[in-house]
Amino acid sequence: MKKKVCIIGAGPSGLAQLRAFQSAADKGADIPEITCLEKQSDWGGLWNYTWRTGVDEAGNPCHGSMYRYLWSNGPKEGLEFADYTFEEHFGRPIASYPPREVLWDYIKGRVEKAGVRDKIRFNTNVRDVRYLDGMFTVTSRNSETDTETIEDFDHVIVASGHFSSPNVPYYPGFESFNGRILHAHDFRDAREFIDKEILILGTSYSAEDIGSQCWKYGCKSVTVSHRTAPIGWDWPDNWQEVPCLERVEGRTAHFIDGTSKDVDAIILCTGYKHHFPFMPDDLRLKTANRLATADLYKGVVYTGNPDLFYLGMQDQWFTFNMFDAQAWWVRDVILGQIDLPDQATMKADPKAREAAEDALPDDYACIAYQGAYTAELIDETDYPSFDIEVANQAFYSWKKHKKKGIMTFRDHGYVSPMTGAQAPAHHTPWVDALDDSMAAYLKK
Ligand SMILES: Cc1cc2nc3c(=O)[nH]c(=O)nc-3n(C[C@H](O)[C@H](O)[C@H](O)COP(=O)(O)OP(=O)(O)OC[C@H]3O[C@@H](n4cnc5c(N)ncnc54)[C@H](O)[C@@H]3O)c2cc1C
Ligand SMILES: NC(=O)c1ccc[n+]([C@@H]2O[C@H](COP(=O)([O-])OP(=O)(O)OC[C@H]3O[C@@H](n4cnc5c(N)ncnc54)[C@H](OP(=O)(O)O)[C@@H]3O)[C@@H](O)[C@H]2O)c1
Repeated sequence: MKKKVCIIGAGPSGLAQLRAFQSAADKGADIPEITCLEKQSDWGGLWNYTWRTGVDEAGNPCHGSMYRYLWSNGPKEGLEFADYTFEEHFGRPIASYPPREVLWDYIKGRVEKAGVRDKIRFNTNVRDVRYLDGMFTVTSRNSETDTETIEDFDHVIVASGHFSSPNVPYYPGFESFNGRILHAHDFRDAREFIDKEILILGTSYSAEDIGSQCWKYGCKSVTVSHRTAPIGWDWPDNWQEVPCLERVEGRTAHFIDGTSKDVDAIILCTGYKHHFPFMPDDLRLKTANRLATADLYKGVVYTGNPDLFYLGMQDQWFTFNMFDAQAWWVRDVILGQIDLPDQATMKADPKAREAAEDALPDDYACIAYQGAYTAELIDETDYPSFDIEVANQAFYSWKKHKKKGIMTFRDHGYVSPMTGAQAPAHHTPWVDALDDSMAAYLKK
């Protein structure tokens, strides 16, 4: 009897898992029966843009958090697949910060080549997972046929992402604000805010990118309120950073230092929750958004049940190639090529990783830490080895370029860790490139 494996989600992490098994099969391995359940009608996870907000066609929470005109916020050299380079996909070196559609095309190119689409059941939402007598029972619902399916699996791999369920704080007066309040998860088009005064809460990537987008497409002003510390870039003139929001009255936002600002919209860039409504308590990952996730041995094996795996649950500098490293490693555990240690050793591992992360002095050290983690997993599998230090260097330069110019950092190019090629400059500075389509981006 072949083992049966269920992958939940066909985003970059789930697709990495499908590709990992297919690559073993290509080399002659006897692989398990693989089923990937994906609630959307197409693959690519967050990169598969949807205009919808709130609920999707099936009435489930809308997964998409990506918006129009989104360009990669980090250099593509940090996320490149080792087994499928940008140059292989596009036929030539391309610039370092591709827009969403270009990255989606790249993700799709690899799995189309691998021929794994028939392993995915689309429009299929996983509603419940249970574990009994060494087997998982997975209940899912297909929205096209409106039918429920209950199936047993030897292993479940959760690849459902963790930047989809918004963390939505409340501040006094929100209920009577005379404008629009939305979370970054529901932001879709910066042109909605042309000539508007916007207030952003939060200081991380969504805050700086959504603010930059609204500024680029012509909002009147951007005010960013911080709970902990300001972002501190050299912002344009119509952009200010202010302390924590205290309350809202009418259209006026009051901050804890006694200052105030009249605004048209409040955009909550306040992060996301690890949210697995389909998991019972004994299988449900509970972790903060950090580099060393709680309760995952080697960042992937659920210590409460080592037949269960979670992919891509870390906060992310590295993304696609880290998901690959995890997927190849999980595959080899399932194929019996990597042995898991005893429970005590597995439980000690995330604790040691957390302590190591807590001791990191700055973002540069965090990048090196996640690079080293990725390399550690790659070294234990046959995933094509590459020089992680070149990817680290791309991230280090990216940080310096952001400091130099937050509206110009995307005009720089970096060296591919896979091909050694230097990325060309993009044909148009990011600030002037209003058309983010793939056709516009790839124009010579
Ligand atoms: C706004 C935004 C911008 C980002 N930009 C970048 C960037 O520029 N560069 C970068 O490297 N990373 C970026 N990221 C990080 C992003 O998390 C990763 O690039 C990547 O998408 C993570 O892949 P994933 O497969 O783990 O999760 P996801 O991409 O979230 O995919 C998860 C999949 O699981 C499916 N799913 C969820 N629940 C169920 C269920 N119950 N049943 C069935 N299917 C389910 C979803 O439909 C989805 O297809 C960004 C994230 C956000 C939110
Ligand atoms: N262009 C792009 O590629 C792009 C764009 C957007 C997002 N992303 C990706 O999306 C992911 C998520 O980023 P994110 O910025 O949404 O989330 P995040 O990194 O988790 O940051 C959450 C922010 O919310 C703040 N916050 C939380 N609760 C708050 C509260 N009650 N009041 C005020 N502030 C609060 C936090 O502030 P404290 O510091 O005080 O905790 C923090 O600044 C990242 O991987 C990022 O790379 C990419």
